[in-house]
Amino acid sequence: MKEKQIITGFSKLTKDEKIKEVARYFKNPQEISDFLASFWFHEEKHQKLFDEFSENTISNFHFPFGIAPNVMINGKNYLIPMVIEESSVVAAAANSAKFWSTRGGFHTRIISTTKIGQVHFIWKGEKEELKAHFPELKQRLIEGTQAISKNMQERGGGILDIELVDMRKEIPDYYQLKASFNTRDAMGANFINSCLEEFASILKDFVVHKETIKEKEVIVIMSILSNYTPECLVEAWVECPVEEFDAIDPDMTSKEFVWKFEKAVQIATVDPHRATTHNKGIFNGIDAVVLATGNDFRAVEACGHTFASRDGQYRSLTQLKVENGIFKYSLLLPIALGTVGGLTSLHPLAKFTLELLGDPSAEDLMQISAVSGLANNFGALRSLTTKGIQKGHMKMHLLNILNTFGATEVEKDIAIEYFKTEKVSFNAVETFLKTVRN
Ligand code: MEV
Repeated sequence: MKEKQIITGFSKLTKDEKIKEVARYFKNPQEISDFLASFWFHEEKHQKLFDEFSENTISNFHFPFGIAPNVMINGKNYLIPMVIEESSVVAAAANSAKFWSTRGGFHTRIISTTKIGQVHFIWKGEKEELKAHFPELKQRLIEGTQAISKNMQERGGGILDIELVDMRKEIPDYYQLKASFNTRDAMGANFINSCLEEFASILKDFVVHKETIKEKEVIVIMSILSNYTPECLVEAWVECPVEEFDAIDPDMTSKEFVWKFEKAVQIATVDPHRATTHNKGIFNGIDAVVLATGNDFRAVEACGHTFASRDGQYRSLTQLKVENGIFKYSLLLPIALGTVGGLTSLHPLAKFTLELLGDPSAEDLMQISAVSGLANNFGALRSLTTKGIQKGHMKMHLLNILNTFGATEVEKDIAIEYFKTEKVSFNAVETFLKTVRN
């Protein structure tokens, strides 16, 4: 591949010109252009929509869209759409869902849906002056953002509260206006950020015009929502008598299984290395639903991991209680999601996903996503503490390995049959294909 050069004005090129600009670094530019175009949608309107989601688009990057069936949540049965490239994730969710469907299913509850935004500013005056005027300022902030919050208020949301936070212990002269919001079914980023920018200008204006405030200079550093929403909180759990695990593994009693499972959760609570992998397994399930519904998985991940570190150490997001012979396994985490606005209503498959889920509210979607996370984590721990994950994982991965070696459909059929009873590994598949091809 040729050395890349600095390009100026790339964003101003047409799509074809951008593709040409990229393809010229390859030995076979025409083939590369055709290859990129082969992932475009046939329907012009879909392609246009996708191109407009982002900048400098040259192709589409497809992910598999799968379904985890039989997911019982609070007595209601769901087909959960999952967008994920990792072969075993949908299978893990589906297996867990099936297991729990005959044991009361998943239970969930919303604890709160509050979202947070901050205006970060520097002010060198006497804190008491600002503090004394804060009730008046707060009133102005709320009144001054009426035009922005009117629609949200009509939907039952809006600005919930605004606090003045003194952060001078951390950074000299640093304060925050910390506001909480209810954004109903919207993710609400635009609403929150618009309110915050308005707060910032009202704050500056207030300080300048208030005679009793001596220091007139407010330096607004930034006004932005926080993706850490510890009060946008959902809990999902499963529970059943310990004996229900009697048939979980031929070599284990239910008590042995539960004991091992409990140790696995304890380990993820005390050891950050294990906690990270444990929580990654939870996000396998959550991200897949978040992506399928056109929500922002980076925000959800960032928030979840911060929450996992809330006492100063990164820990498991799940907890296990075994009391009076009852196994209760729960997941508690903040997930800020939306079911209206943004990509949720623009991306054709996100729209389809929401329809398949029965047009959920944001609260419903928080619960569905949490269940998907718990289902995946339960599936992972169940495998890890019994037969291990590699057997199932490699079986699921077999097609990927066969595709890596360019196996034909006939070779794939023979291999799938052969590996029903053999251990799958990269080497084993390579050797097997060599034998078949010879
Ligand atoms: C793999 O994507 C996820 C797991 O590693 C999760 C876990 O170890 O709990 C299986």
